[in-house]
Amino acid sequence: MSQPTQPILPGFKLGKFDINPPIALAPMAGITDLPFRRICRRFGIGLTVTEMIASRAVEYGSERTERMAELDKDESPVSIQIAGSDSKYVVDAAKWAVDHGADFVDINMGCPVKKVVKQVAGSAMLRDEPLVARVIDAVVKAVDVPVTLKIRTGWDSESKNVQNIARIAEDNGIQMLTVHGRTRAQMFNGKASWQDIGLAKDAVSIPVIGNGDIIDGASALDMIKQSGCDGVMIGRAVQGNPWLLGEVRAAIMGLPKPETPSVEEVWEVVHEHMLHLADFHGVKRASKLVRKHVPWYSKRRRGSAEFRASFQKVFVWEAQIEAAKAYFLSDIHEQDADDKVLDIAV
Ligand SMILES: Cc1cc2nc3c(=O)[nH]c(=O)nc-3n(C[C@H](O)[C@H](O)[C@H](O)COP(=O)(O)O)c2cc1C
Repeated sequence: MSQPTQPILPGFKLGKFDINPPIALAPMAGITDLPFRRICRRFGIGLTVTEMIASRAVEYGSERTERMAELDKDESPVSIQIAGSDSKYVVDAAKWAVDHGADFVDINMGCPVKKVVKQVAGSAMLRDEPLVARVIDAVVKAVDVPVTLKIRTGWDSESKNVQNIARIAEDNGIQMLTVHGRTRAQMFNGKASWQDIGLAKDAVSIPVIGNGDIIDGASALDMIKQSGCDGVMIGRAVQGNPWLLGEVRAAIMGLPKPETPSVEEVWEVVHEHMLHLADFHGVKRASKLVRKHVPWYSKRRRGSAEFRASFQKVFVWEAQIEAAKAYFLSDIHEQDADDKVLDIAV
C-alpha cells in the first residue's frame, strides 16, 4: 500500500487565516486584476494579492483605483498591496484597503520602476532603513489586520540589506515577508538568488515567502530547499499558464503532478478568462486586454507564432472570441488525426 504523502510545506497562520497551501499569486500591475485572480483561484492556491496601488492614487480616488481594489466576495485570504513613502498617505491607503475588504495589507518595497523609485517609493525605500521602519510602524499601528511586506534583496549588489530589512520588518510588526531574490539594479535580469531569500529566513521568525524564477513544481521545491522559505510566490510563469499553480500545489503537497489539461479544458479556461475580463472591464477595455492575455495561453502550443500575429489583427470582440476558439480547439482535430494514425498502427 502506498504511504500517505506528507506536504513539503505545512502552511502557516496569518492572523485568523491559514495560508495553506502556502502558494501566492504574485502581484503584477496590469495583469493580476480580479478576472485573472479569479482564474488562478481555481487552482487551489493559498493567497492572492491585488496589483500595487499607489497611496497617492488612493487620495485622488479615481474610478480606476477603486476597480483595482475590487475583490470577489469569496476571494479570501487576499491582500491589497499599497505603495508609498509618506506615512500619512500610506496609512490612509492601508485603512482604505481594509475598508475594501482586504484580509491583509501588503506594503510594496520592491517595485523597481523609475517613476516609483523617483518618489522614493517601492525598492528605493530599501536605501533608507529608518524610513522603512517609520512607514511600517505607522501602518501596523493604523490597521487591525495583519500587515505584510514585499521586498527585493537590496538596492544593488554592493548594498544588499535583505537581513537588516527583514529584522526591521519583524521588529515593527510585519507578520509575513515576501522576498523577490533580486536587487533593484537587476530589474528582471540575471537569476533570482534563492540563497539571499534564505538570508532573510535566517534573520527572522515570521513566515518568509520566496519569490523569483519559479517555472514549475521542481523549481518551486528547489527554491524551498535552497532558501528554507515557508511558502512560494509565483508571477510571470503563470501568465497564460494558471495550471502551473496546480502543478506547484501538487509538488508542495507531495502529490503526483496533475495531468496536462486537455484541449477542451484549456479553451474552457481561456474562454472563461475572456468572459470575466468583459464582465469586469467592459467589452471595449477587455478587447484590448485579451490581446495581451490570450496570446500568452498559446505559448508552447502548435502554431503559436501564426496565431499571435493573426490575433493582433482582430479588433471586434465576437471575432476575438471566434479566433481564439478556432485556434485553441483546432488541436482537437490534430489529436483526432494522431489517434487515427495510432489506430492504424495498432
Ligand atoms: C508586469 C509585472 C508587473 C509587476 N507588478 C508588481 C506589483 O504591482 N507589485 C509587486 O510587488 N511586484 C510586482 N511585480 C513583481 C512580481 O510580483 C514578482 O516579484 C516578480 O515578477 C518575480 O517573480 P516571478 O519570477 O515569479 O515573476 C511585477 C512583475 C511584472 C513582470
